[in-house]
Amino acid sequence: MAFPGTLGLQMSDQEFALIRDFIRDYCGIYFENGSKAIVEMRLARNATKLNLRSFLDYYYLLKYDERREQELQELVESITTKETYFFREVSQLKALAEEILPDILQRKRSRERVVRIWSAGCATGEEPYSIAMVLLEDGRTEAWRREIIANDISKRALQVSRLGLYGESSMRAIAPALKQKYFRREENNRYRVLDQVKSLVQFAHVNLLSSERLALLPQMDVVFCRNVLMYFDQEHRRRVVNAFFEKLEPGGFLLLGHAESLMSLSTGFDLVQLTHDLVYRKP
Ligand SMILES: C[S@@+](CC[C@H](N)C(=O)[O-])C[C@H]1O[C@@H](n2cnc3c(N)ncnc32)[C@H](O)[C@@H]1O
Repeated sequence: MAFPGTLGLQMSDQEFALIRDFIRDYCGIYFENGSKAIVEMRLARNATKLNLRSFLDYYYLLKYDERREQELQELVESITTKETYFFREVSQLKALAEEILPDILQRKRSRERVVRIWSAGCATGEEPYSIAMVLLEDGRTEAWRREIIANDISKRALQVSRLGLYGESSMRAIAPALKQKYFRREENNRYRVLDQVKSLVQFAHVNLLSSERLALLPQMDVVFCRNVLMYFDQEHRRRVVNAFFEKLEPGGFLLLGHAESLMSLSTGFDLVQLTHDLVYRKP
């Protein structure tokens, strides 16, 4: 029997395995064996919109049909978790302000004066804009070029990012003084990020598994990749972490989400205890 919410379509174990592996190879996100009902529910709407009669037909469309590219975008929107908010895991932003930034400014003082920070898997933009506010709050960076590069695989999330208009739930952890300083209040309790903040951030539609696209990004001083790799399988997690290692300057920092670690991966990063947080550092 099909579950309610699956619009009459039922996913067999074989269809689940095919689609699950397809998703993993395309974007790294991995659904464990127990998550068939979730995948079935999330993709039933996609398959029915296309008038398909089975998930096997949906799989073939994703692989071979001329509508493939367009449907891949729909697939991404259905399977990604885009939950985020301003100043999430604030101890990491304190570490950025009080320890990481001073270290970068000191280390690079006699070189090109640019600080580059990558928000990898930025969702709807709250993370890179929070980083931008940290930079703006630090007077010492005024004479520096400040570049925040933010990417996501979801085009819809990037549209929201570029618009920069947020509801109360995105604002739940931001200090009132920063809310007052960097947002304009609009109708219906919405808050618009000021251009001063926006101008520091460039958004790009990039899949973290695309080595050609990653090759176009510059070398970074810090990578924030929080609450992204927790959805990946081990192999793709390792691949992305290695890409971060390549993209970081020597002495550069990697910050993962609090629920994530590199413990089971062997990487070149050192684990460093800062006052506010544990971070990874390229030697
Ligand atoms: C839970 S959000 C994390 C947002 C933010 N980093 C934070 O911690 O609040 C995860 C984001 O990762 C993105 N994502 C997942 N797989 C990706 C991939 N292969 N390439 C780029 N972004 C990806 C999703 O679209 C989603 O917006």
